[in-house]
Amino acid sequence: SETEDLVAMVREARRVVAFTGAGISTECGIPDFRSPGGLWATNRPIDYDSFVSSAGMRREAWRRVFAMEPVFRAAEPGRGHRALAHLVRIGKASAIITQNIDNLHQRSGVPAGRIVELHGNGSYATCLGCGLRHELDEIRGPFLETEEPPACRGCGGMVKTATVSFGQTMPEDEMARAAEEAEACDLFLAIGSSLVVYPAAGFPLMAKRAGARLVIVNREPTDLDPFADMTITSDIGDSLVALTQLNA
Ligand code: OAD
Ligand code: ZN
Repeated sequence: SETEDLVAMVREARRVVAFTGAGISTECGIPDFRSPGGLWATNRPIDYDSFVSSAGMRREAWRRVFAMEPVFRAAEPGRGHRALAHLVRIGKASAIITQNIDNLHQRSGVPAGRIVELHGNGSYATCLGCGLRHELDEIRGPFLETEEPPACRGCGGMVKTATVSFGQTMPEDEMARAAEEAEACDLFLAIGSSLVVYPAAGFPLMAKRAGARLVIVNREPTDLDPFADMTITSDIGDSLVALTQLNA
């Protein structure tokens, strides 16, 4: 079966890198972007320039953050997160490169140093001016109806969730780290991503070019399927759960 083939490939691999998208978290109750009914249709992301230039857009962005917050808080890591955490724990996987901002890899027990947050993290905020971290609790308040969200307590600058919006610069360190990991692995698992958002979606091919085998686990076909050594279209949790049995 596909699952047995996947387990065999992981067992044979020396150094695995997982690359994840929103599809790994749908079984945890967090909607993805591009599936029918996903966030792309209901809440198309607010881009960086709109956030910075429009008070109304900032209010809307924060309204969404606090609307989604209980969903993120209620979510627990799923079978996919747990399987990948296991691969890191036994020393099989060197890194999890994620596009997700839901903090579930972190909460599944993977050390922060093994997670590459390509699109940042939605569980806290940072100042766009000085980078100072702010907790969501410091920001929540009545401002959503009327005024501006609170300014940075350090420099008075504009505060935004620590996520990367469209039009915002990618985090340099994370991009460099992702490239290193993609080039050093011998098996690259792309899991639950439509693989349409660049530069993130460039890493599977970077790994492939550097000689790794590429496995794509995704319900829907992706543009990179022709380059994959194996594609698995079954449910992610069902497909990955068997990896939890592997030993070092
Ligand atoms: P998408 O919503 O584009 O893709 C998620 C993929 O997961 C879809 O192709 C689904 O078919 C698949 N999927 C969902 N649940 C699944 C399951 N249980 N089993 C198997 N497959 C499943 O999400 P991403 O690729 O993560 O960027 O989106 C990329 C980026 O676009 C996000 O990081 C975000 C978004 O706009 C920014 O915010 C900058
Ligand atoms: Zn500041």
